[in-house]
Amino acid sequence: MKLLVTGGMGFIGSAVVRLAVARGHEVVNLDAMTYAACEANVAPVSGSNLYSFEQADIRDRAALERVFATHNPDAVMHLAAESHVDRSIDGPADFVETNITGTFNMLEAARAHWMRQGRPSGFRFHHISTDEVFGSLGAEGQFTEDTPYDPRSPYSASKAASDHLVRAWAETYGLPVVLTNCSNNYGPYHFPEKLIPVTILNALHGRPIPVYGTGENVRDWLYVEDHADALLLVVQKGAVGRSYNIGGENERRNIDLVRTICALLDEMQPRAKGSYAEQITFVTDRPGHDARYAIDPARIRTELGWRPSVTVEEGLRRTVRWYLDNEAWWRPLLERQGVGQRLGTRA
Ligand SMILES: NC(=O)c1ccc[n+]([C@@H]2O[C@H](COP(=O)([O-])OP(=O)(O)OC[C@H]3O[C@@H](n4cnc5c(N)ncnc54)[C@H](O)[C@@H]3O)[C@@H](O)[C@H]2O)c1
Repeated sequence: MKLLVTGGMGFIGSAVVRLAVARGHEVVNLDAMTYAACEANVAPVSGSNLYSFEQADIRDRAALERVFATHNPDAVMHLAAESHVDRSIDGPADFVETNITGTFNMLEAARAHWMRQGRPSGFRFHHISTDEVFGSLGAEGQFTEDTPYDPRSPYSASKAASDHLVRAWAETYGLPVVLTNCSNNYGPYHFPEKLIPVTILNALHGRPIPVYGTGENVRDWLYVEDHADALLLVVQKGAVGRSYNIGGENERRNIDLVRTICALLDEMQPRAKGSYAEQITFVTDRPGHDARYAIDPARIRTELGWRPSVTVEEGLRRTVRWYLDNEAWWRPLLERQGVGQRLGTRA
């Protein structure tokens, strides 16, 4: 299968690119190379003759037309997005332009390509989205694919809008789409502004480990390589027009997750004295911080037979090991704009 993967220099997109090439798919990676992109993320496959790269911005419709015409993909896996909630609080415009207008451009370019090809029924536009579109849960309950949308941050609102556009292009123009809404990912190559890498790297640098509010917020954690595996399954086997929730079946409170990481570091790279947990520092909460996300994974399990393979304990162990072994990857990223600063405090 020839896949056009957008955002393939980012965290999840690069996991998709690496896995797809390893499984023998041809991959065209389209990425604008924003602050969140990293060429090293695809180094394991960039020498493969199955892999090619197009630097293009999804806000640039003409560039997208050119990429589709050059490569004639069988399917699109659309991951390119602005993805950091804290940055969306400080600068929502980029989120509206990339996540909404950019997805509109992708849909129009894909539709034109699909029509030029004679509307092949096997073509897929796979839109990769988040569980954050469903809003915030209390102590009980889980998000199903039928949960009403209730986004609460500029990031999740922009992703919700893009999901609506994708469904409208399926209903109105018959474009063969599939959608996935996924819980929080973690693992190797996670950009050092998100909770897990921030925790590992601040711990190693002897700095305070920031935990928002009281750390009670609950997320369902999915190992990124499991997510990439689920995405490749959905793009090939998912029913047209259907959406699938993808979760890790691993709900944890933020504070418990951070304590687990500290315990793993105590074991793998002990401090001279005491525990890394002594560096945990509670900081002002994020405005509008959603309390809990949880995924009901019944549909993808029963219809496609997919379950996550990695528990959060095992995935965190692998992740901590990876950061200890890959300083050459993360060190230069600490210099990028905004990294290491507290963002998104504006009420
Ligand atoms: N990280 C998570 O936990 C999570 C969970 C569920 C869904 N998602 C979704 O998965 C997708 C990928 O997330 P991620 O964490 O890998 O993000 P990321 O920020 O690590 O990577 C995003 C990539 O998209 C590229 N990009 C950004 N704007 C672009 C533009 N205008 N044109 C072309 N490329 C552009 C960036 O350069 C970067 O390489 C996003 O759509 C996100 O909403 C993420």
